[in-house]
Amino acid sequence: MSAIMNRRFILAARPDGLPQESDFRLEDSPLPVPGPGQIVIRNHYASLDPAIRGWLDDTPSYLPPVALGDAVRASTIGTVEASHVDRFAPGDWVMGLNRIEQYSVVTPDDFMHPIDVMLAPSVTSYLSAMGAVGLTAWFGVSEIMKPRAGQTLLVSGAAGAVGSMVGQLAKLQGARVVGIAGGAAKCARLIDHYGFDAAIDYRGKDVAALAADIGAACPQGIDHVYENVGGTCLDAALLHINTQAQIILCGLIAEYNGDPQGARNIWQLIVKTATMRGYLLTEFVDRFPEGSRAIAALIAQGKLLFDEHIEDGIDRAYPAFMRLFDGSNDGKMILKLA
Ligand SMILES: NC(=O)c1ccc[n+]([C@@H]2O[C@H](COP(=O)([O-])OP(=O)(O)OC[C@H]3O[C@@H](n4cnc5c(N)ncnc54)[C@H](OP(=O)(O)O)[C@@H]3O)[C@@H](O)[C@H]2O)c1
Repeated sequence: MSAIMNRRFILAARPDGLPQESDFRLEDSPLPVPGPGQIVIRNHYASLDPAIRGWLDDTPSYLPPVALGDAVRASTIGTVEASHVDRFAPGDWVMGLNRIEQYSVVTPDDFMHPIDVMLAPSVTSYLSAMGAVGLTAWFGVSEIMKPRAGQTLLVSGAAGAVGSMVGQLAKLQGARVVGIAGGAAKCARLIDHYGFDAAIDYRGKDVAALAADIGAACPQGIDHVYENVGGTCLDAALLHINTQAQIILCGLIAEYNGDPQGARNIWQLIVKTATMRGYLLTEFVDRFPEGSRAIAALIAQGKLLFDEHIEDGIDRAYPAFMRLFDGSNDGKMILKLA
């Protein structure tokens, strides 16, 4: 195996604000020979997630920061090339938290597991609907928010991977669903493609203007806020919450490349005796198989749509990653490596 050259997407410097291309480099290095207890994975696809931005900073988080000089961490799916572990055989499809690199030599951890590609609508769906983003939406809606018929749910980042599934799942539970997204095309897509009841374009709007639009789109007020963005979106949403509303903080992408922006209207939580709570998918790690089965069933029944934006080649890692922050991704951002 040592003759194989492995192209890797390396963190060269810690980004200050929006990541620059010079913060990364592509590096070719010989693949190490796997030792006892290790397997070699040929990575076919990597999941590009907003969370990666947080892992590039040397700040306390739920995972250690990516080390300078190491390949950037990402969930990948791939095939086993060589194995010194009984439960993994060459040719098996596996998913795990690896790195953005063509091959990974790893000691399998709790995140590494085989996947049955015959059960999924596509291999890549294990990084989208059947993977972390789908599960995030599923457990967030069905276990935390539990919206009821007649209630209104507002979701930001609505046209993205998590947001589009949150809206559809909440609709299936009978809620009225309003989405916030960037631009007229994404807003039209929310209604025409994903079946949202209303959509609001946040771009170019301050809190007052966005709050006015939210008020018009949510005449009965908001019972559930599923927050993926923060900043202006959260500040404006809080001005329209109902008594005992639930606000779930899933992500704050507006803050990932800069200073904290919100929440400036949290006094509304007191006025409306509302609850705001943070949410991390790993809360439900023991129930992932159950969630994946539920999502697969809804997809098979044609009740849940999902979209993927696949960029081809590890050399495209930087521009593909940056799509998450300029909004030019149309669906779950995935990088094809093999
Ligand atoms: N808590 C968890 O366990 C968990 C798990 C997965 C994901 N998340 C979070 O869920 C959120 C969505 O993730 P995703 O993977 O589904 O990504 P995504 O929505 O597919 O892509 C990111 C989108 O965020 C929007 N965006 C980027 N910068 C923005 C800004 N400054 N202000 C407003 N919108 C901005 C863009 O859409 P527009 O064109 O609409 O601006 C972009 O397309 C992220 O905050 C992520 O961190 C949390």
